[in-house]
Amino acid sequence: MKKAVCPGSFDPITNGHLDVIERASGLFDEVVIAVLVNNSKTGLFSIDERVGMISDAIKHLKNVKVDTWSGLLVDYCRDHDIAAIVKGLRAVSDFDYELQMAQMNLQLKGVDTLLMATKPAYSFLSSSLVREIARYGGDVSNLVPAGVLKRLAEKA
Ligand code: PNS
Repeated sequence: MKKAVCPGSFDPITNGHLDVIERASGLFDEVVIAVLVNNSKTGLFSIDERVGMISDAIKHLKNVKVDTWSGLLVDYCRDHDIAAIVKGLRAVSDFDYELQMAQMNLQLKGVDTLLMATKPAYSFLSSSLVREIARYGGDVSNLVPAGVLKRLAEKA
């Protein structure tokens, strides 16, 4: 069974993340969304809230599940027999950072990374911009899953 991981902070998950996850689910037998816990960073949403919103958004994807992890991503891959990391690439500006992490993860434990080109419609989309726009009352209804929209409204 070929398993892949889609890692990230997901604070919160966006339609751009979901698009990459949906396309990865068609390429692998199983996809795990790993919400990485960064103890030095306080986000808008707790880890439990992020997992809850992701669970709601992936109900239609039978071979996708969500998990959390607070160590190195390559150790998660080793412990769960995961063959590849899948990440979205929105623009050239993402490339240096993603390439650096991909090469580091390859060097650390031989884990491959597949950088999936996002749909152009999502090339400007990020969790941090969603948080900022929502904080000032802007409309993010076409940028995030419905469950996320509801939780953003509750935080406002
Ligand atoms: O949502 P992000 O910020 O793009 O996700 C980055 C993330 C969480 C995938 C990356 O920071 C990560 O893999 N963190 C886990 C710790 C780790 O393995 N660090 C070394 C990366 S080479």
